[in-house]
Amino acid sequence: MGEWERLRERCLACRDCALCEARHNVVFGVGSTQAEVLFVGEGPGENEDLQGEPFVGRAGKFLDDMLAMIDLDRSRVYIANIVKCRPPQNRDPLNTEQEACLPWLREQIRLLQPKIVVCLGRISAMVFIRPDFKISREHGQFVTKDGVDYMALYHPAALLRDPRRRPETFEDLKALQRRIRERCTHTY
Ligand code: URA
Repeated sequence: MGEWERLRERCLACRDCALCEARHNVVFGVGSTQAEVLFVGEGPGENEDLQGEPFVGRAGKFLDDMLAMIDLDRSRVYIANIVKCRPPQNRDPLNTEQEACLPWLREQIRLLQPKIVVCLGRISAMVFIRPDFKISREHGQFVTKDGVDYMALYHPAALLRDPRRRPETFEDLKALQRRIRERCTHTY
C-alpha cells in the first residue's frame, strides 16, 4: 500500500474529535496526488458528508465553474478541507476541531508538496495565511512562505450568496492562472 492509501485509511478511522459521532463519511480529499495546486475549503456540508467527497453540493458546482474559468478541473488539482467531518448545521469548525484535524491536512501537504495553496474562504485563510486575515481586503493577494505561494479566494458559497463579489473573484482567478503558469510545470 502506498503512503497516500495508508494515510487515507488511518484518516477514515479517525475519532480524534466529537465530529466523528454524527458523520456519515470522512471527507478525505480528491484530485491528483501529483497536483501542484491545492485548494482548501472549510469543512464538509451535508452533500459532502453523504458522498465522502469535498465540494459536491451547490457551492461545489460553483467551484467547478471557477476552475473551468481558468482551464482547470478537479483531476488537475487537489481539493481538501480544514476539517474532514461535517460540523453540525454547517457551523464554523471550532478551534479545537481544527487543531484535532489539521495533522491530516499537514500530512497530505507533506506528500503533495504543492507549489500553490488556494484558501477557499476566511477560515482556511486564517489557518494558512494569518489568524487575523480579512477576506474582503486581502483576497487575491499572494503571500510566499517557505517557497509555497498562498492566496485566498472568496468561498464559493459566499459567491453564490453575493454575486457582486464575482467580478473581483474573476480577477483573482486570472492572477492565480498567471501564477500557475509562472511556477508550475505540469498543471497546464
Ligand atoms: N464547503 C467547504 O468549505 N467544503 C466543502 O467540501 C463543501 C462546502
